[in-house]
Amino acid sequence: MNEINKFVATGLTILGMSYGSIALAQTRASEILQEEYQRSGAENFSAARGETLWKQEFTHAKSGQKRSCTTCHGSNLRKPGKHARTGKTIEPMVPSVNPERLTDRKKIEKWFLRNCKWTLGRECTPQEKGDFLSYMGNQ
Ligand code: HEC
Repeated sequence: MNEINKFVATGLTILGMSYGSIALAQTRASEILQEEYQRSGAENFSAARGETLWKQEFTHAKSGQKRSCTTCHGSNLRKPGKHARTGKTIEPMVPSVNPERLTDRKKIEKWFLRNCKWTLGRECTPQEKGDFLSYMGNQ
């Protein structure tokens, strides 16, 4: 192997390893959360139920506005969304397209809390959060 080939091979190995560890972090973060949700009483999780809730419209009590998770994230999780209030682009939600998704438990919990309150007008239950994670992780 000449020097350039060695250099390329090392680069590819490092790239492969970091992609691998992101994939691992993602599985672990959502799996650990799902285990926690089950310890607090959730049953088995269903991607289909997650999808139904993701697309369901809720009427905001004060404004009468219709809201759903798709209001900002769009109905195709593989594509970017657009924030309903700020107009900012939101990167795709699924780890298969955006490997940084579902890798950080604190981030996932922070946004579940904020987005469930904004969309449903209440916090999501452990069952609902686990269903969402199955839906997002499955694509
Ligand atoms: C008002 C706009 C808005 C709505 C509606 C919304 N989200 Fe989000 N969501 C965001 C923004 C902004 C972020 C953080 C920006 C980013 O990570 O790109 C985010 C991030 C997330 C994340 C973090 C994912 C990760 O690992 O990076 C999860 C999980 C999430 N949202 C779930 C939901 C669910 C479930 C619903 C419906 C109950 C929902 N969102 C509705 C705006 C919204």
